Order: sequence, then C-alpha cells, then structure tokens
Amino acid sequence: MCGIVGYTGKQSVAKQILDALELLEYRGYDSAGMAIVDETNGQVQIRKRAGRVADLEKVWKANPVNGICGIGHTRWATHGGVSDVNAHPHRAGRVTLVHNGIIENYEELKDHFGLADELISDTDSEVVAAVLNRFYTGDPHEALFQTVKCLKGTFALVVIFDDIPDVIFAIRNVSPIVAAYREDGTMLASDVAALGGQATSYMVVPEYHVVELHTDDIRVYNMKNELCEAEFLDIDWDTTRAGKGNYPFYMEKEIMEQPEAIKATLAPRYVDGRISLEADGVPDDVLKNCERVCVVACGTAMHAGLVAQSLIRSILRMHMDVEYASEFMYMDPVIDDKTLVLAISQSGETIDTLEALKYARSQGAKSIAVINVKGSSIARESDYVMYTYAGPEIAVASTKAYTTQMAALFALIGRMAVVRGAFNEEQEKAFVDALMQAPDAIQQVLDRKEEMHHIARGLLEAKDAFMLGRGLDYAILLEGALKLKEVSYIHTEAYASGELKHGTIALITEKTPVVALVTQERVRDKELSNIREVQSRGASVVVLVKDGIDLADADYTHVFTLPAMDDVAMAFPASAALQLLAYYVSMDRGLDVDKPRNLAKVVTVE
Ligand code: F6R
Repeated sequence: MCGIVGYTGKQSVAKQILDALELLEYRGYDSAGMAIVDETNGQVQIRKRAGRVADLEKVWKANPVNGICGIGHTRWATHGGVSDVNAHPHRAGRVTLVHNGIIENYEELKDHFGLADELISDTDSEVVAAVLNRFYTGDPHEALFQTVKCLKGTFALVVIFDDIPDVIFAIRNVSPIVAAYREDGTMLASDVAALGGQATSYMVVPEYHVVELHTDDIRVYNMKNELCEAEFLDIDWDTTRAGKGNYPFYMEKEIMEQPEAIKATLAPRYVDGRISLEADGVPDDVLKNCERVCVVACGTAMHAGLVAQSLIRSILRMHMDVEYASEFMYMDPVIDDKTLVLAISQSGETIDTLEALKYARSQGAKSIAVINVKGSSIARESDYVMYTYAGPEIAVASTKAYTTQMAALFALIGRMAVVRGAFNEEQEKAFVDALMQAPDAIQQVLDRKEEMHHIARGLLEAKDAFMLGRGLDYAILLEGALKLKEVSYIHTEAYASGELKHGTIALITEKTPVVALVTQERVRDKELSNIREVQSRGASVVVLVKDGIDLADADYTHVFTLPAMDDVAMAFPASAALQLLAYYVSMDRGLDVDKPRNLAKVVTVE
C-alpha cells in the first residue's frame, strides 16, 4: 500500500507534494513525509511524522523548506509500527528513498549486508535504502539494478541521490508508478489521479526499468541500461476530485451519487432497448463458449461477485465460483481454457486480485475485468475490461463502486443470457426493465435517509450485531455487515438465516441487534420463522422488507420498506439502505467515517 510521489519543476515543490499526498492519502494514513532538495544549498531536507498529511503540512509550515525537486510518501504500516521514525522518507548515506510495497527478505538482507547497527527504524524500506547506499558509488542506474536484483517482494522505489540533487529516480516491481509531463515540470505518483489534473497524458513505468525525472524530460532505461521509448497514454477522463460538496463525509456524498453512477454505468451497455457489450469490446463468443465462470476479487468487490453468482445460477443455470483472490492460488482452483474469469476491483490495483488474475490467465482462462479506475494494473492485465462509471471513490468504505460493479455484472450476465439462449427477447426486455429501475429504486431509499438515521440510533451502543437473510439476501447482507463493521467498529456477522440454529444462535441474547433482510418472495416464510427464533431469544430486530411482502403480525423494533422491484434487482435498494445504516452509526458514534482505523483504500500488499 502507501502512496508515493515525486515532483521536479517550477512550482512550489512542497505544495505540489502535499497536494498529491492528500490525493494519495486513501492508500494509507498512518504517517506522511517528504524530502525536498533545498534550493538554497542543494541539500536534502526531510519532514515527516506519524499522522495525516495535514499533520505533515503543519510540520512543514513550522519549518518550511522549498526547492528544486522532492519526493513524498503517505504510509500504511506493514513492517514497523506507526511512529515518526518509521515514517518515510528513509535516509542512508547519500540515498533518500520512499517505498511502496513489501520486501519479504529484508531480514536476510540486513544480515547479509551487516546493516543492523546503521538502521534506526523497524521498516523493510530503510533496509532497501541502506542496501542501495552500499551499491552506490556514483552510478545511480547500476546501484538501482544491483539493489533490485537482491529484493524479494513488491516495490515502487523513488529515490534522490545527494550528489544528483536535480533528478528523481524510480524503479518498481508490481507496485504501480505512473509518470507524466506537466507544463511546469515532471511528476510521478502511485496513481494517475494524484497527478492532480495537471497532466494530459501519462506513462506507466514498466517493471524493472529505471525512470529518471528531470524538470523537462522523462527518461526510461531497461536493465541493460539502454534508453527505451516510453509509451504515453492519454488521460481522457476526469481526474479531478470535486471535494465533499455540502456533505460532511465523502461516504455520504458517494452513497447519494449512486443513482447517477449506475445510470452512467448502464448507459453504454443499453443500446436500442437491448443489452450490448460492444462498447466494451467483449466478443459474444467469449460469453458463449465458456463452460464455467470464476470471480476473483476481495472484500466489497467479492461481494458484488456473490450477487452475480446468485444471478448466473438462477438465470443461466451455470456453474460459477466466487473466490477470495487472496486465497485463490492456495486452493488449487480448477481453471482451464474453458473458464471465464471475472476480476472485479474498484481500484484496479489490489494485488491479491491482480495475482489471481495473472495465475488464471496462465492456466488458459479468458478474463474480463470489472474496474472503476481507468488504465489501472488489473485493467491492463485483463483480456477485456468493463469499466464502471462510479467516478472517483474517496471514502475508504466502498459504496458506489459496489453498486456500479453490480450494474456492470448484471449487464454482462444479461448479455450472456442472450447469447447462450437463456433469454428470448421478451425475457431480455423484462430483465432490462428491472435493471433500468435500479437508479430510481435507490433514489427512493436515499430520499428517506432520515428514516434510516433514526433506525441507526438504536445501534449506537451495540458491541455485536447480526444480519440475517437467505439466498440473494444473504449475499447482500455480507456486504451490509462488512460496511457496518468497517465504519462503525461494531462486530457484525451476516448469517444465512437457516444456519443460525447450528451454533450461532447461542450468541443471541436480550437486545442483540439483528438486521433481517426480506426481499425474496420464495424464502419469505422460512425467513419469518428464523426471525421469530431470534426474537424469542430477546433480539431487537430491524427488518428491511420489499414493499408488498407481508411480514405478518409481529413486534419488530423497526421496519424499513424497500421499493418493490423484480426479486433479482432488489440488491440495489437493499444495499443503499444498508450503506446508510452503516454510515449513520459511524457518524453518530463520532468516528472518522471516511478513514476508518487500520484501513487503506488500495491494498497493494498480499
Ligand atoms: C470495503 C472495501 C474493500 C475493497 C477491497 C477490494 O469497503 O472497499 O473491501 O472492496 O479492498 O478493493 P478493490 O475493489 O479496489 O480491488
């Protein structure tokens, strides 16, 4: 994880770095730091501290420095606790370095190079700085090549050498770095959006190539030290982040943006009343000829895959696995050239998903990535890409990315059903009609957000909560429970209602909060029985129910009615309601809703 940046140019270097770090803070916010080559004497000056970018800015304001060029870092701690000394940049001899990734063999390197006495932090990154310094005898490329040959793991390294103070060097393996020309200089960063809307094109630094950033030039060298041609890609999408507007948190803003985001995601896939993946370039025969489908994804994105699984089984009667990407390779997955792999990811940078995708492709699978961030690593690695048009998602807890992932997956499954003969025209039309109602159904839930706010107040004191549902409702609740956990810190478990009595019901006691979801007509009776079972043990039950489903006479703590849609599409309004619940519990508990503790938005470590 972590965000890294480098800038050299005519603007205030500190300001450019601080601005970029703020945009990269979603990648980690344990500490922040920067190194700037002082314009008055050409010496590297470091400012860093545990805490947020705003804290770093205070440190810099108290002791300002400006200069020729600089590098910056925002950290998500892996090796070494959260402290000032473990914050990047790290220095060793003539080397100043920031690092994103994990060096697996740092202990070995420490012993091999006898570094123990010279290290002052507990980080793997400082070890890299020290090794690089050992190899550095005045030839930066040679030192970088020698160093990376020793490293096991993932890394994006950005370096300033004391005696070459006007050039920034970088090299990477897996962890991303993009570089760009701006009118006032050159810049590199962990993602395109951090270039701050100042660049019109960017290059992805190739793995194991040294990139040199000069004020007016970007040079790339391969491991044979040959100068290479860099391929620049246009930035033809909006990289600006509009801010929170009138909302107190990005999470609320992003929840509220969902109707528009889903419309934007569906629009290019809805042509002349039919579902089409032509704009995505996904050929029909890929959808037609596969024998099985396998989702690889993590967290919320994996939960979108579970909703898709429910649909694929019911509509296509087809086999589909949904795998935690982080477990994929260790579970001996059954993958071959008849498998279609769907890699789902908001950021497109989640390393577990990226590695699972690479593995699946190496086994002959075809792949479609469902991605929000254009040009990201997973998008580049996949055979085909379906972009979601959620726009930038800044809150760490994913909301609009999830529902737009579902929208894209619904379109994919709809097209599959057409080409595989599971839908006739009438069935396709009914499916499309249901899907097209999703934005409006979500809007209806959002218009009643205060009702959900009221319900949320009942959970503020809870330590544990349960969410119960069957079938598709259970899949939806897995995401609802993750949302509540991560932003409110209430331990929450989603449970398939029928499983409860096989052990977990022992945890239900007087006033245990239970959220039950009842949107699927066919499981209504059984679900109501399960609700009665927890009520008899004293649980306080909030029911989210599809309008029209009769809950029978019973005393629920609250009932929130969801707009009625076709059963398969109920995931949209139900998810919006659960997101609001999590949001309000977090906000009313006085938590940092957008930046929950210990998390980062982009997970680039395994
Ligand atoms: C939770 C959340 C995470 C991500 C997961 C995968 O709110 O956002 O569970 O869904 O880390 O991230 P992406 O989608 O970027 O691959």
